[in-house]
Order: sequence, then C-alpha cells, then structure tokens
Amino acid sequence: MTAELSPVDMAKYVAAKRAAEFVEPGMRLGLGTGSTAAWLVKILGEKVRGEGLQITGVPTSSRTAALAREQGVPIATLEELKWLDLTIDGADEFDPKLNLIKGGGGALLQEKIVAAASDRMVVITDTSKEVETLGAFPLPVEVIPFGWETTRALIEETLGTVDVDGRDVVLRMAGDAPFVTDEGNRILDLHLKRIGDPRQLSLALNQIPGVVENGLFIDICDAVVIGHGDGMVELRDIQAGTVVQEQVEAEDHENLFTDIAD
Ligand code: 5RP
Repeated sequence: MTAELSPVDMAKYVAAKRAAEFVEPGMRLGLGTGSTAAWLVKILGEKVRGEGLQITGVPTSSRTAALAREQGVPIATLEELKWLDLTIDGADEFDPKLNLIKGGGGALLQEKIVAAASDRMVVITDTSKEVETLGAFPLPVEVIPFGWETTRALIEETLGTVDVDGRDVVLRMAGDAPFVTDEGNRILDLHLKRIGDPRQLSLALNQIPGVVENGLFIDICDAVVIGHGDGMVELRDIQAGTVVQEQVEAEDHENLFTDIAD
C-alpha cells in the first residue's frame, strides 16, 4: 500500500509519523489542519484504537474535528482544556528561524490560538515548504465580512509602508462565492513575494480595524520535522539547536493509506 503513495504524500506521512513519537500518554494535544496534519490524526487514531493511547486533542478546524471523531481520537475544546502540552500542525512556508506562513487551508485563526496556547509547537512538512525568506506563498489574512473592502484598502495602504516586494490583495474564493472561515470570516491573500520583516508586518496588519489575524507565526514554532519522499526525516529543534536525520519505516496499514484527507 505504501508503494502507492506519491513522494510528496510519503514525505508528509513520514513527517507525521515521526512527530507522533513526541506524543505521550495523557497529553493535551493541538491538532493542526491540512493534508499533513490529516496524516497525524490518522496515525494517532491508530494508536488510540490499537494501543489504547490516551490523549485529548483540540482540533484547529471543523475539518480536523470531523476527522478526529472519525478516527476515534478523543477531542475537547480549548475552553475546556485551556492550555496544551503540544501542538503539531503543517505550514505553508517556514524560514531558518522557524517563522511560518500558515492559513493556506483557511484555518489560521484557530491554528494560531491553539499553537500559542501550547507549551510546544512542532511543524510537520515536506521539503517544498522551506524558504530562505517568507513571502512567495501568499500571506492569508482573516478579516470580518463587515466593511471588508475598506479593510482591504487599509491593508493595501499599509503594504506601502513595509518591506515587501508585492502588494496584490485578493479575496479568497470557494467557487463562485467568497471562502468562509469556521468563524464566518473572509480570507484576503496578500501576494507579497518577499517579506523583509515578518514581525513588523504582522504587527502592522493586526492594527488594522477589521483584521482578525494574519498567517505569520513568529516565535511560535519550536521544531520542524521535514519528511522526504524516500522516508528520511530531518528534525530541527530551534530551542535545543539540534538537527537530526533519521529513516522512518512506512508501515503497511491499509486503513491509513486509503482516503488520503484534503
Ligand atoms: C491550514 C494550514 C496548513 O497547515 C497549511 O496550509 C499546510 O497544509 P498542507 O499540510 O496541506 O500542505 O495552515 O490553514
């Protein structure tokens, strides 16, 4: 079954599998959103069902909540648990300081709240997300629907005052209608090409009325697990200052490899 995985799916799978080893019995766990995080939820589901692993997950989207329920991973809300031991999530880009762009799946708001409420955040990814400088991936910004065109104009004005190379701001669509987040908001994708100062940009964006949150995760991620198509993973821990490479064995669980999420 594993032989049917594309190199990208294999990379995502082995990253998730290695990161699942950080999960200890009794942990309160932030469950990310996206295709890489979906692998994690499936792997955790197997451990819960097969090994009796006891964990409680806080999903970062309605999609992840549905998958966790389907896989038998017990879930709770952040209001119930208040603080988490670990969050494992994907990313759209990460730089050498492990600053991130997230929100490609539109779940950046819950993802950021959950990651910020965790002792530790680990990102799982394939090699394509690594960049020297953030910004090639359009930066998602969640805005409330009320007056969103005014908010967009204010964002465009702000982009003229910060160190970026592009200024196109595009309303995210889902078919013919605007994409709607789990909180009922809209997403504006900022095509910036290069973000010279992510911290300054994040602060500037979040000061604009109508902006709920932006997809820059600054000083939130502690470690990244980078999967490769041949099963190799690289673990970079920014806190410990360590880089380790390991080979991960893909297992032949039919359950896991059917219906690849997202
Ligand atoms: C969702 C996210 C995802 O983590 C990000 O888009 C990466 O997704 P994938 O693992 O499918 O590449 O931020 O809002």
